[in-house]
Amino acid sequence: MRGKFITFEGGEGTGKSTQAHLLADALRNQGINVTITREPGGTEGAELVRALLVSGAISRWSPLSEVLLLNAARLDHLTKVILPALETGNWVICDRFTDSTIAYQGYGHGVDLAFIQNLHQQLFSTNTPDLTFVFDLDPSVGIQRSLQRHTSETRFENMQLEFHNRMRQGYLDIAHQDVSRCILINAADTVDNVHKTILNGIERLQLS
Ligand code: TMP
Repeated sequence: MRGKFITFEGGEGTGKSTQAHLLADALRNQGINVTITREPGGTEGAELVRALLVSGAISRWSPLSEVLLLNAARLDHLTKVILPALETGNWVICDRFTDSTIAYQGYGHGVDLAFIQNLHQQLFSTNTPDLTFVFDLDPSVGIQRSLQRHTSETRFENMQLEFHNRMRQGYLDIAHQDVSRCILINAADTVDNVHKTILNGIERLQLS
């Protein structure tokens, strides 16, 4: 039986990566085989694209170039990692997927939403996630949290607060427009409470 495809989405410093790992551990304890991965990245080529996108000057890429690079990396990741794992029955937990491009490049940068949606429709329509957790947090809090990590991956964190506020609104719209797929998470809550909310959400998949 094909595995379930779960994505974690949200702004910077919302704790989604921590929660993705906690969920992977919990599912493994239930005897489920789990593949945990991330975007941009997840394959050798896509990790190279990630390095080009998340570091360096903001002006390094135009918004439209970001869309194209992200989707080139995504197609590689989907074909080489996500689909093979789902086909062997593994559950796949992916830290970011297509909603990130709608929220960041569409709402944040103002790239035409219809263009992005059309591209996603052509490339990924048969592989929509079964469940998506959308982490919501005030970007001024999240960016501080994220910058405290002291990595070189700060290109998006360095974008203006208005960019991050538009991106946040994008995620809220996505979560409200697709309630059968998305569960909105208050990322200001404790790690423990968020984990419990996620485990409750997962029951949707185990009942289906
Ligand atoms: P991360 O911080 O969650 O690891 O993600 C890396 C950065 O890439 C993050 O700042 C958001 C950005 N990003 C986009 O702008 N669009 C996308 O489609 C994806 C997948 C990530």
